Amino acid sequence: MVRTLLVNLCRLVLATVFILSGLVKIIDPRGFSYKIDEYAGAAGITDFHLAHASLLFAAAVAMLEFSAGIYLFFGIRRRLTSLVTLLMMTVFAALTFWSWRWHAVSDCGCFGDVIHLTPAETFFKNVVLLLLCLPLVRHPRAQVRFISEKSQWTIGLYVWIYGAALCAYNVYMLPVMDFRPYHIGADLLRAMQPADAGDVRYTHTFIMEKDGERREFSLEDYPDSTWTFVDRRTRIEGSAKALPPIHDLSIVSPSTGIDTTEALLSSEGWKFLIVAPDLREADDGVMERLAELTDYCSHYGYPLYCLTASNEEDIRYWQDITGAEYPYLLADRTPLRTMVRSNPGLVVLKGSTVKAKFPAIGLPSETELTDRADRLALLNPDLETHLRMLLRLLLWFVGPLFILTLLDNLYRLIIHIKNKKRIMRKHIVAGNWKMNKNLQEGVALAKELKEILAAEKPNCDVIIGTPFIHLATVADLLKDSCIAVSAENCADKESGAYTGEVSAAMVKSTGAEYVILGHSERREYYHETPAILKEKVDLALANGLKVIFCIGESLAEREANKQEAVCKAELQGSVFHLSAEQWKNIVIAYEPIWAIGTGKTATAEQAEEIHAFIRKCVAEVYGEAAAQETSILYGGSCKASNAPELFGKEDIDGGLIGGASLKAPDFKGIIDAWK
Ligand code: PGA
Repeated sequence: MVRTLLVNLCRLVLATVFILSGLVKIIDPRGFSYKIDEYAGAAGITDFHLAHASLLFAAAVAMLEFSAGIYLFFGIRRRLTSLVTLLMMTVFAALTFWSWRWHAVSDCGCFGDVIHLTPAETFFKNVVLLLLCLPLVRHPRAQVRFISEKSQWTIGLYVWIYGAALCAYNVYMLPVMDFRPYHIGADLLRAMQPADAGDVRYTHTFIMEKDGERREFSLEDYPDSTWTFVDRRTRIEGSAKALPPIHDLSIVSPSTGIDTTEALLSSEGWKFLIVAPDLREADDGVMERLAELTDYCSHYGYPLYCLTASNEEDIRYWQDITGAEYPYLLADRTPLRTMVRSNPGLVVLKGSTVKAKFPAIGLPSETELTDRADRLALLNPDLETHLRMLLRLLLWFVGPLFILTLLDNLYRLIIHIKNKKRIMRKHIVAGNWKMNKNLQEGVALAKELKEILAAEKPNCDVIIGTPFIHLATVADLLKDSCIAVSAENCADKESGAYTGEVSAAMVKSTGAEYVILGHSERREYYHETPAILKEKVDLALANGLKVIFCIGESLAEREANKQEAVCKAELQGSVFHLSAEQWKNIVIAYEPIWAIGTGKTATAEQAEEIHAFIRKCVAEVYGEAAAQETSILYGGSCKASNAPELFGKEDIDGGLIGGASLKAPDFKGIIDAWK
């Protein structure tokens, strides 16, 4: 109980963190890819961004993280998911440890731009999350499933489709939620005011080149025009906490080197900024739209600039291929990439307020730019709150999933109805009296049961398994009833000098129809090995008896997650050698040893899971049709109160009942579960 609680608590915390951090990355895959470039750069890999490697990698990690969160939340593929989660947390923890100790990157990027954590904070967060993974990996099956095993594939698959679609949308359009200080509605001048500017200082330097020589200059010693501009750097000194949201934006005129940020932003009216951090890599399919935009701006007298971090050569290259005629301004690559996640993108300002943003693929066309900026809805979009967008994303997740699940269930229902018509699998409730009741008591119980079931016909086959001493009398008593009789054992020898043994032929001669073989009590206390049981099964069938063959794992085996291997080995050891014809006389009883006579029942889900596995094993040997016709009973503390839930499962065809078969009303209560 405590264990289940602990495992599920850890799992829900991990699920929440993975879903949130996966989602913010899916919403802004480009932002995450820049972060990956930053990590790669710190590790000395500088060309990782080439051929979109970092963007693809970012999208893959984001989707994996989000999907792992959803899988954890619903309890899909619990063992695999727990292992993948552990693996991811190990990698994240190692990465952030490196980043913390060796100052690789200043912000981990775990939650995109939503929450900023220092490397130390991130490392400790990751260590805690890593520890939370351990109970999950140790007890994956203790994670309660929120959906049935059969329908886990729908969510399992859909979450990847959803993640990929959302990721692609955010890459090609702009992030559907903008947590950056340049979001629509933001006043850039205000965002540049430090809350407490006391100890923050910025220094801007310029990398210039002349005759192959590169040098760094400050604003004070800015060189003459014989030097060519290459790059610029902004250094921030002082406490990071005092930094304003925008602290690294400095817009400079390339010809004079003068900082025009303040002048540009504080001027009244509309202005259009084509933001292209890197002109060499910019999407050049936008030429026509940019030309239309240039016409629009000059028609209404709106200033239009191209903001870039490219060098002169790249600017010239861009001018050549696009024939662009707007002036260029320079700024650092980082603030430009933060401003708009597109290369190029368009940022429309009114005064210093961001009014609209467009990605390369969605630049406005001349058919849309038909009026003054104030009158165009396109340039004055409604502000979408984060909460509304989150609800919309949730709806897009739940809506199609709901339809998919509905269709899946409908399909399953049709198959089920079809199979029901085709498969006449027997439902059976079998009693196993074990070593209880003397002859008189046993006969009395059989008589009582006979009368009860004569008055109210059962909806399933009923069998009672009695000690040898009762067999002949009880079988005779129940001759004309609906109750069949079973022995609890038979010898592994045909006949002869085996004092105390009872042969299969003798059992048959009493009028009994069945024999229970392979019960765990006989395996454990009387050392019946798979080889001995194989002999018994062969003799029972040869003498016209049907066999209820028991299999099941011990507690230690279940805790080691070996239940499937154990059950399969028991079947292989004693019954899978039978011919298809002989197999028709076999009923399987799955009895987890830890549940027999202990009051502990396997949950209906646990039982169904292994019953389905057993049926799959039978199908592998005897084919799907034979497997569908094999009755597989559950045994182990089965009683009237839990029988309906157990028998309600698709692969559970009844029960083998010990303690609760010793009183007629209790046994009848279980039989009634089939009503
Ligand atoms: P139980 O026994 O119902 O008393 O747990 C089941 C069995 O051993 O067959």
